[in-house]
Amino acid sequence: MTNAQAEMVQQSRDGEILILTINNPPVNAFSPGVPEGLKAGLDAAAADDSVKAVVIIGGGRTFVAGADIKTFGRPREEAPDLRGTIEKLDGFGKPTVAAIHGTALGGGLELAMGCTYRVAVGDAQVGLPEVKLGVLPGAGGTQRLPRVVGAQKALEMMLSGNPIRAGEAQQLGLIDEIVDGDLLAGAVAFARSHADARPLPRISEKGVEGGSPEVFAAARESIRKSHRGQLSPSLIIDLAEMAANQPFQEGWDAEAGKFVEAMNSPQSRGLRHIFFAEREAGKIPGIDKNTPTTEIRAAGIIGAGTMGGGIAMNFLNVGIPVTIVETAQDALDRGLGVIRKNYENTARKGRISMEDVEKRMALLTPTLEMGDLKDADIIIEAVFENMDVKKDIFTRLDGIAKQGAILASNTSTLDVNEIASVTSRPESVIGLHFFSPANVMKLLEIVRADKTSDSVLATSMALAKKIKKVGVVVGVCDGFVGNRMIHRYGDEARKMVEEGANVQDVDAAMNALGLPMGPFQMSDMAGLDIGYAIRQHQAKERGEPKPDGWLDRIVERGRKGQKTSAGIYDYGEDRKPRPNAEMTQLIADYRQEKGITPREISQDEATKRLTYSLVNEGAKILEEGIAQRAGDIDVIYIYGYGFPAYRGGPMQYADEQGLKNVVADLKQYGQTPAPLLQQLADEGGTFAGWDKRK
Ligand code: 3HC
Repeated sequence: MTNAQAEMVQQSRDGEILILTINNPPVNAFSPGVPEGLKAGLDAAAADDSVKAVVIIGGGRTFVAGADIKTFGRPREEAPDLRGTIEKLDGFGKPTVAAIHGTALGGGLELAMGCTYRVAVGDAQVGLPEVKLGVLPGAGGTQRLPRVVGAQKALEMMLSGNPIRAGEAQQLGLIDEIVDGDLLAGAVAFARSHADARPLPRISEKGVEGGSPEVFAAARESIRKSHRGQLSPSLIIDLAEMAANQPFQEGWDAEAGKFVEAMNSPQSRGLRHIFFAEREAGKIPGIDKNTPTTEIRAAGIIGAGTMGGGIAMNFLNVGIPVTIVETAQDALDRGLGVIRKNYENTARKGRISMEDVEKRMALLTPTLEMGDLKDADIIIEAVFENMDVKKDIFTRLDGIAKQGAILASNTSTLDVNEIASVTSRPESVIGLHFFSPANVMKLLEIVRADKTSDSVLATSMALAKKIKKVGVVVGVCDGFVGNRMIHRYGDEARKMVEEGANVQDVDAAMNALGLPMGPFQMSDMAGLDIGYAIRQHQAKERGEPKPDGWLDRIVERGRKGQKTSAGIYDYGEDRKPRPNAEMTQLIADYRQEKGITPREISQDEATKRLTYSLVNEGAKILEEGIAQRAGDIDVIYIYGYGFPAYRGGPMQYADEQGLKNVVADLKQYGQTPAPLLQQLADEGGTFAGWDKRK
């Protein structure tokens, strides 16, 4: 043990109570040193007759937030011995009290459940979030939680991974006492008053309430949809069922093996990768907590269409007043109507009250005057994608916005440098690319232009957090990160259909990978006319002939996707895609006209060609510095495009497949690997390794 590890658990006394304080900032994860310190403390307490009870408390901002995720995957001998520590607690001859503040999560709650008693401050939270990392509670959680809160509630907590508040935990018997005021003093007083309690209550000796076969059958049914394709939820249910039907020891032993199985799965590696990638994405070299930021007290939004309205809701939701501008009264009324309807729908579902609806609407000021934006701390332009229109707006904004205000464009493709160039303050200009529906999708691409100031960037990152988005910084290029990659993916999907694949089979390949929508279902939802317009525009710019692919022909028949109830597929009331025989014929005719003999394309080929087209473009984006890290690209794909988190994002997925294999497959399917991808494959490297090297 290093000195630092030896100091992770401090021993102190308050009369006959021994206090063990865990000090492993920032979140007191169960890292090497913590188990040794706790066991040493327990040994000291056992050896000293004057010690009547032990209190375990977290130093700093929280109790133990769980096992140390960074140690996952290390050889067993090197892993911190959480299970051994809890075994020791369970058999300990004197009362032990866990004193909880902040969050007792995963191994933290398991540690607390190994103690005789648990006390907490009122705003503490407890939970078993392991499922979110593709693992399961591996230190007794699957066996102890059902014994305390019953089978149903334990399943709910372990399958959602969501924590509960101390008050609810007390009602459920998970917390013995809520401490008002000083936690340590309260915990010591509690320990003193329970010092002589014998026999000591042990959760491991209790039975499980409500553990009927139907409860587990219902849980298995529910995860088929909610956790489609995932391993750890079904293991959790199996183990909770063991808790209900078998002696504690059997379930405890089985849990250890299942935990390792889940931890070593690619799904857990994917989810852990995203856990850290999401946190890394918030870090920008050269920008730190000393970079000045501005508080956003008032926002302005230009455009009350679908995007503008959705963006406005993000601000209203967190209490920031919004002034929203339109060019005509009817468009303004329509926009406000949609926002109100959205809120009322949410209220109908019981997620907010009608009072909340009115409160939020009261923060919204509609206007036809751009001049009314003069007091806004941030102004976001959300009008349609046309450079001249945007330049005109930014020129006017330059004369209206107060000094220091952030001028943002929600463009999804256009050059933010060019937009900034029409203002006298390009340092205040930034791209904030929200994803549709903007009030729902968590991703925010923050587009750093050449002259964007550090302060504007830092404020935008802080703002993303405030409005509950995951902000990822990207550079200026056509389509930035997400859409630039998705264009290559769309090209590959169309090409495969040209070669002979069915549109349904191409979509099915991505559904099987875990994406809610395949490329064609997604295009129909986004509107086929958008891609069509881009293709036409690009061809014109390049002096190429007018594009005439099979998809262009579909659009030219007036089939624009879901909004016209007809696109690549047909749509009824239920919005489910149904193949259309005429379109299948249109595609067959197209192939014939071009002299293409259709060939069968396997699901494996479709999956590889689609995902690797994303990966290949991602590698180019990394090389150009448009994204800082491969992990950033993964975060963008998880939060913006429905890539399943348990696959870790496209770049992590490629790492899992092995970059050598990815390169070989790309070549086999006629694509040229990006130089960075080729280089990493040649070196036997990974994108994750490349991120670390940088
Ligand atoms: N292990 C290692 N590092 C962790 C960690 C953990 N369990 N939890 C958080 N961290 C690190 C983060 O990576 C971050 O590091 P950084 O500053 O270098 O980026 C730092 O702690 C702070 O984390 P956040 O930025 O997330 O801080 P917040 O205050 O926003 O959130 C939190 C705190 C709610 C504790 C959140 O970090 C969290 O949810 N952590 C994960 C909790 C968890 O999943 N626990 C279960 C682990 S699995 C387990 O226990 C298995 C057992 O059953 C055997």
